[in-house]
Amino acid sequence: MIEIHGLVHRFGEPPDLTEALRGIDLSIGEGEFVALLGPNGCGKTTLAKHLNALLLPTEGEVRVDGLSTSDPAELWEIRRRVGMVFQDPDRQMVASVVEEEVAFGPENLGVPPEEIRRRIGWALEALGIEALRRAEPNLLSGGQKQRVAIASVLVMEPRYLVMDEPTAMLDPLGRREVLRAVHDLRSNLGLTVLYVTHHMEEVLQADRVVALRDGRVALQGPPSEVFSRVEELRSLGLDIPSHLELAWRLRAAGLDLPDGLVGEESLAQAILGRWRELR
Ligand SMILES: Nc1ncnc2c1ncn2[C@@H]1O[C@H](COP(=O)(O)OP(=O)(O)OP(=O)(O)O)[C@@H](O)[C@H]1O
Ligand SMILES: [Mg+2]
Repeated sequence: MIEIHGLVHRFGEPPDLTEALRGIDLSIGEGEFVALLGPNGCGKTTLAKHLNALLLPTEGEVRVDGLSTSDPAELWEIRRRVGMVFQDPDRQMVASVVEEEVAFGPENLGVPPEEIRRRIGWALEALGIEALRRAEPNLLSGGQKQRVAIASVLVMEPRYLVMDEPTAMLDPLGRREVLRAVHDLRSNLGLTVLYVTHHMEEVLQADRVVALRDGRVALQGPPSEVFSRVEELRSLGLDIPSHLELAWRLRAAGLDLPDGLVGEESLAQAILGRWRELR
C-alpha cells in the first residue's frame, strides 16, 4: 500500500516560493483505483511525482509498501514498484520499433533476454496491442502509443501504476482505448492505480475520487457520493458529467431517484421507471 503522511512540497526559495502541497494525508490500498482531480495548479502532478520519488518531501513522508521515498537506499526498489505514465506518449518513446521500446527498461536492469521476450509478449497482450510488436512507434495513433508507453511500464512488473492525465492528448477513441486498457490491467493483474485526469466521465468507475484544491485534499469518496456533492464540485471548478447534472436537477425538482447511480444506463432506467409510475 501507499501511505502519505503530512506531505508538504515547496518549490523554490522566497520570494519565489510555491507551496504546491500543503499537508496531504492519503493512503492507497492494494488493488484500489483512485482518481485524482482538481483545477490547474492544485498539485496533482506534484503529488503523482512523489509516489515514485521523482520528487522528495519538503516535510512529511511517502511510503510504498513500507519503503520511504526519502531513503536513498530504497529509490530503485520504489521506482520498480511504482510505474509512471505521463501525458505525452511521444516524449516517453525512445526506440524505433515497439518491441525495442518495451524492452528498454528491463534491458537496462539486465533482465535475461528470454525473460524479456516473455514479458513483452505478456505486456502487449495485456494491452491488446500484440499485432503492433514490430510496428514503428511514430506511425501509431495516440491511443496505441499510449498503450505502448503503458506496456513499457508493465514489463517492469510494477505493483502500482501512476498515470498523470494519460488521455489528455488523445482523441475520444484513443481515450476509450486507454481507459479500457487500464481497467483491464487492474481487474486482470490486480494493479493498484492512481489516475490523474480532468475528464470527469473517466472517474465514474474509480473506487475513490480525491479532489485537491490549493495543495490540500478538498473532497474525497466513492464517485456516487462525490458526484452528488454538485455545489462543492462546482466551487472546485470541476464539471460534473451531464447525465449526473441532469439527475441532480431532477432530484432538486422533486423527482425521487435512488442514490448511488453513476452510470448513464442505470440512471436512464431509473428515470424511465419513475416516469412510468408517475404517468
Ligand atoms: N518545477 C517547479 N518549479 C516551481 N513551481 C512549480 C514546479 N512545478 C510545479 N510548480 C507549481 O506548483 C503548483 C502545483 O503544480 P502541479 O503541476 O502539481 O499542478 P497540477 O494540479 O498538476 O496542474 P495541471 O492541472 O495544470 O496539470 C503550481 O502552482 C505550479 O506552478
Ligand atoms: Mg499536472
